[in-house]
Amino acid sequence: MARIAIFASGNGSNFESLVNSFSNDVENKVIILICDNANAFVLQRAKRLEIPFELIKYIKNEKEKTEQRISEILTENKIDVAFLAGYMRILSLFLLSKLKIPVINIHPSILPKFKGVNAIEQAFNSQEKEIGITIHYVIEEVDSGEIILQKSIPLQREKGIEFVEQEVHNLEHKWYPIVAKQICDGINFKNGVKR
Ligand code: GRF
Repeated sequence: MARIAIFASGNGSNFESLVNSFSNDVENKVIILICDNANAFVLQRAKRLEIPFELIKYIKNEKEKTEQRISEILTENKIDVAFLAGYMRILSLFLLSKLKIPVINIHPSILPKFKGVNAIEQAFNSQEKEIGITIHYVIEEVDSGEIILQKSIPLQREKGIEFVEQEVHNLEHKWYPIVAKQICDGINFKNGVKR
């Protein structure tokens, strides 16, 4: 069984779609939510969906100590894979090298275009004719790891930014669970041995 951690800081719609997609999966299980923001709506979702969570507040100038705690929580919970879903912190090399598990992120743009925050708005205000999502492995450099999947759709600017945002989120909610399932199943069959 792949034991899954999800990291989120905000609304948590991707967290919820991942949790729902794994709810009837006997092979894979969402074990824990890691959240850095006490006011995040994702915490309410976690309570409603009965997913345990850890609120990890980052202490100023003590990122390593905070990440050490995260690493311990993932180890204690025997986590096999982590999915970032709107997690607004950069994972340092210190943490990534400690974890030794795949860490995956979803970003609402066709990378390498529009890295960082407000990616949908950046695309909306550009000359691009398409908009989309990227699911990629996480490395220290933000929004830059190996790409697993990209999906794009026509950017219907005339329909307004809220419409476009919703379309991008719909893409995310469709494809993140599909990719997550494939990665988890790959972990289950690692080395040809069903764990
Ligand atoms: C998503 O657009 C995701 O691609 C990005 O942050 C946003 C999180 O949205 N990394 P939500 O919190 O899952 O609703």
